[in-house]
Amino acid sequence: MPVDEITAAAAGSWTLGDRTVHRMGFGSMRTTPDPDPARAIRVLRRAVELGVNHIDTAAFYVSPGGTLNVGDGPARYATELIRAALAPYPEHLVITTKVGFGYDPTHGLYEDTSAAGLRAQVEENLRRLGRDHLDVVNLRIVRRPGRDSVAEAFGVLADLREAGLIRHLGLSNVRLDHLDEAQAIAPVVCVQNAYAVDNRGEQDPLLRECGARGVAYVPFFALAGTRRESGAVAEHAAAVHAVARAHGATPHQVRLAWTLHRGPHVLAIPGTGDPEHLAQNIAAGALRLGDEEMAALG
Ligand SMILES: NC(=O)c1ccc[n+]([C@@H]2O[C@H](COP(=O)([O-])OP(=O)(O)OC[C@H]3O[C@@H](n4cnc5c(N)ncnc54)[C@H](OP(=O)(O)O)[C@@H]3O)[C@@H](O)[C@H]2O)c1
Repeated sequence: MPVDEITAAAAGSWTLGDRTVHRMGFGSMRTTPDPDPARAIRVLRRAVELGVNHIDTAAFYVSPGGTLNVGDGPARYATELIRAALAPYPEHLVITTKVGFGYDPTHGLYEDTSAAGLRAQVEENLRRLGRDHLDVVNLRIVRRPGRDSVAEAFGVLADLREAGLIRHLGLSNVRLDHLDEAQAIAPVVCVQNAYAVDNRGEQDPLLRECGARGVAYVPFFALAGTRRESGAVAEHAAAVHAVARAHGATPHQVRLAWTLHRGPHVLAIPGTGDPEHLAQNIAAGALRLGDEEMAALG
């Protein structure tokens, strides 16, 4: 089947709280570098046309400035591009955002998990997205010695959930003990951590435990691996190339398919500002890898 006829439904579904999404989603961070917002808007609309109903974002995804800090000219916020492309939002669309960082042109990107900071970030997301509630909010932490508890910040978000501003809560960049802490305070629907075929770190036990607890595990940097913000990995292991050849797929598609095969609770959020990459990524949800292929990929 031609790549652009495969929809996100091919990857199957998962339920985040009370919201069912296709396991192949879209990460919006890469929509901000393009100086032409019209292209980013086309990519976002095409993603939804191709069945994507789970979009990841953050109010600090903005260029210039923000996480990628690319280019010059007027600020392009991913949240505002999403609104321009997709509002009024389709009923089935789940937008997941993250807090724990703020951005403004004077201070740049800064960590802020204070109660006032988190509330301001939630309100900024509501304003930029043009919504009266947020579907899923991840608390994105920085792991560092002496800063080992998520309880206080997660409690603030749990209160905002009780107040109706947030429907579901998640965590990002966390360990299992953070998940334990958070689940004692309020339900957690997803954990979003860096994870890729060549960058598994210590993630596998956490990934498995999320599955056992019915919590979605959502890898970011599945294509970028250790290159992180710098962009997709260009060199792939021989096994990735071999599996790609066998399926008539690209190595990047195999990287995405590998993550989806790590468990039925694993959701993909590949990021791109390129319409061709978008179609390829969604089509990767239709790849079915055999046990031997998964073993070869490691
Ligand atoms: N929780 C967190 O801390 C955190 C951190 C970072 C990101 N995220 C989220 O996770 C999402 C994914 O992360 P990411 O976008 O940084 O990395 P990624 O999805 O691993 O890789 C994106 C990079 O791969 C390229 N790419 C995409 N599709 C491709 C394809 N089919 N073939 C070749 N190259 C391809 C993109 O360039 P093109 O634009 O040219 O396609 C971009 O440079 C983000 O968009 C964001 O929503 C979360």
